Amino acid sequence: MKKITTYESPRNAGLLLNANELSSNLPKKIRAEISEAVMTTDFNRYPDPSQKEVLEAYAKMQGLKESQLLAGNGSDQMLGHVICYFLGHGKKLYTFAPDFSMYDYYASSYEAETVKFRTEEDGSADLNAFIGRGKEVNADMIMFSNPNNPTGHCFDLNEIRTILSAFPDIPVVVDEAYMEFSAKESALSLIEEYRNLYVTRTLSKAYGLAGIRLGFMASAEENMKKLKGSFVPYAVNTLTMKIGVIAMAHAAETGDVIREIVNERERVYGEVKKMKNLKFYPSEANFLYGRSAAKEVLLKLMDEEQIVIRNYAGSDAFRITIGKKEENDRILAVLRKFEETV
Ligand SMILES: Cc1ncc(COP(=O)(O)O)c(C=O)c1O
Repeated sequence: MKKITTYESPRNAGLLLNANELSSNLPKKIRAEISEAVMTTDFNRYPDPSQKEVLEAYAKMQGLKESQLLAGNGSDQMLGHVICYFLGHGKKLYTFAPDFSMYDYYASSYEAETVKFRTEEDGSADLNAFIGRGKEVNADMIMFSNPNNPTGHCFDLNEIRTILSAFPDIPVVVDEAYMEFSAKESALSLIEEYRNLYVTRTLSKAYGLAGIRLGFMASAEENMKKLKGSFVPYAVNTLTMKIGVIAMAHAAETGDVIREIVNERERVYGEVKKMKNLKFYPSEANFLYGRSAAKEVLLKLMDEEQIVIRNYAGSDAFRITIGKKEENDRILAVLRKFEETV
């Protein structure tokens, strides 16, 4: 039997700041539009296998062509698909440590090996060393999140170019699930220049649509032709595509939500970076990554307040999603109490 790395995301009751979701639901106005769309849906028909409308909407929003895009059941499925297409028994996926745990899951389920390059504590890395090690191990694919989950660190476009140029013959997959929260430029602008580049994006985070499962992969047209050809035909259901199109028509409002989260992230970071028994790192995503030698005490305090954060068992690290102002204030209150306790 294959040994597959599992993924765990516990869903307890309380204030959920463990999965980097948006804290607020879609505005009522948008939900009303969705209700209307539900009423006119042909539930008896299979979804459009060409994903025409949803790809058109995403292409327009990002300044891309439909032929450079594929949609999946969350960007997760896109990551799984690209791993399935290129890797298999004996192949090597090269990534950072720490990074998103699903890479291990997919690589192991296709019997590929994951090789990790440990970053600095803040998620930054010596790229020359990263490249050297990647060549030494003979990597078959590079995949990493940018901004990084869990550290929130984000490489700039020049650094992404350095990695792409160093590995012209293998696919380099840049997972931009949190890119909307970063001031850095997306690698989407590089897909025709670097034929080895694959970028994944999602509506789960900044667009607050984790529940509908809609993600995208972008790459040069010739690459997408192959990946589309080998993809399951009805991966994205009709309702998800309709909701995605409606949400994208309201992208300007989403921009306001993103700015609010970024402001809140900076406010919270400004407070927590002064704390003595906690170490936090600058983040370009919708979460903060922290460490503490007394993490168990912190987790207990969070638990007492029914706040669920992401714990990295077996280490001193944890991650807190940035929520609404009042939710962040609750977090700050617990962190201050922790400072007084330890
Ligand atoms: C770095 C990263 N990539 C991809 C995903 C998957 O997102 P989704 O499948 O919801 O698009 C997540 C979700 O937490 C993530 O943190």
